[in-house]
Amino acid sequence: MEKSNFSEEEKWWGDNHLEQINGFWFMPMLIPRIHRVLAEFNPRPSDVILSSFPKTGTTWLKSLLYSIINRSSLDSLVNNNPRDLVPFLEIQVYGDQESSDSSTYLSSEDTPRIFSTHIPYQLLGKTLESSGCRVVYVARNPKDTLNSLWHFANKWEMAVEGPWELEEAVEKFVSGVVPDGPYYEHVLGYRMAGLNNPDKVFFITYEELMDDTKTHVKKLAEFLGCPFVEEEDKKVEEIVKCCSFGVLKNHEVNKSEDYTTWAPTPYTSFFRQAKVGDYRNHLSDDAIKRIDARTEEKFYKSGFVYGI
Ligand code: A3P
Repeated sequence: MEKSNFSEEEKWWGDNHLEQINGFWFMPMLIPRIHRVLAEFNPRPSDVILSSFPKTGTTWLKSLLYSIINRSSLDSLVNNNPRDLVPFLEIQVYGDQESSDSSTYLSSEDTPRIFSTHIPYQLLGKTLESSGCRVVYVARNPKDTLNSLWHFANKWEMAVEGPWELEEAVEKFVSGVVPDGPYYEHVLGYRMAGLNNPDKVFFITYEELMDDTKTHVKKLAEFLGCPFVEEEDKKVEEIVKCCSFGVLKNHEVNKSEDYTTWAPTPYTSFFRQAKVGDYRNHLSDDAIKRIDARTEEKFYKSGFVYGI
């Protein structure tokens, strides 16, 4: 990799750098797109926005929300990666200025429209609150999030030039300089929004969802205003199964090594292990201690007992 002029603080992977908006770090190419979302996106009250930090279960939640809302369209998951069914605001919807995708997505007659985003609540909160739309946020424990991010980043095109070393990844994660970071502030922003406004912001963790998917699918449906009646128990089970890791990852579209049009990574890279605690197979004791100390400082001290 060529030497760059960026400060050590801005670098997250070798000489690759991130840029800040109000204390949050983003890939440089996303900065104008995020500004467009913040300036132009006008959610409908009926919209559903899935928010998440990267690698916390976004793809899973996309498939679940899509299936809960479009109950008769489960087959769509066979031929489409969930990320093509629920577009990212800052990637697909407000992506390339030249493309017509933006108006296509935004003029959709679907009710609700479902969008997703990694933009933190601290930046997007006003837009979301003023529209009255519903927000679902999925959080994942910090060690599995970092572990998943590290594996994922090393599947990107740029990893060919030089891998993202695990030690560097841990250091950057702890200091917050990772795409959409700091992780801790990201999670806390949406958690607080959920506590303040539970009718509009549904906060769930990957681990809770893994522990009892069926119960949480029903809760999500209630939150979304489309509850399942008792006779629909089989339908709930069908949704849980169609969106499960084992089923999704085996569809041809999700096994494809083709690169997506919207990210520098193949479709298959969104499906890896899907295990709670896989970090134990990769992180050193020292790395675990460092992340736990940060978790205690950030989460525990603000009353959120999670992630250690
Ligand atoms: P691992 O890397 O730990 O396996 P995101 O969708 O936010 O990018 O998150 C990706 C993580 O979610 C990956 O975790 C991936 O394997 C896991 N995942 C993908 N689909 C899933 C599903 N249907 N159920 C549970 N986890 C899933």
